[in-house]
Amino acid sequence: MEEEDKERIRSDCIRLLRGVGCDEGVIKHCIVVAEFALEIVRRHYHYNRVDENLVFRGALLHDIGRVRSHGVDHGFVGGEIAMDLGLEEKVVRIIQRHVGAGITAEEAKEVGLPPVDFMPETTEEKIVAHADNLIDGWRRTSIEHAIANLKDKLGESHPSIRRTTALHEEVMGRSG
Ligand SMILES: [Fe+2]
Repeated sequence: MEEEDKERIRSDCIRLLRGVGCDEGVIKHCIVVAEFALEIVRRHYHYNRVDENLVFRGALLHDIGRVRSHGVDHGFVGGEIAMDLGLEEKVVRIIQRHVGAGITAEEAKEVGLPPVDFMPETTEEKIVAHADNLIDGWRRTSIEHAIANLKDKLGESHPSIRRTTALHEEVMGRSG
């Protein structure tokens, strides 16, 4: 991606985030996740069949739903906001599917969301979801630390823990 394209995408997305009322802390988190997601594309995918612009846009906007909710539903809520803004479907899906390593239809139902799968499917969706898993606030964190946090939050045996480990291996275990 050319530096000027990147700069344009970044400022467009920040304008959108500010426009809906996201606070500066969330925006800073989104920028850090987006830079890290691009690094993952370069290091682990060598640009292979990855839409780098989409990864960058999706990552910059992934937490737009936090303007209304910081709960497990913030991906779903973010998808609604993104649709209202008329954003492309691929970006909407990245936002909807970025929470942890995804939410199954059954888990979605348990937390009061529509009973559909919010699992990352495309490479771009997986990269954004996992870049977010490895950023704690504004900083890089290890997979061990991320898993320990999940266990604290969800309990030792929550299926999300196994899924996050598998996503880590899938995204970060690649050599190109
Ligand atoms: Fe999020």
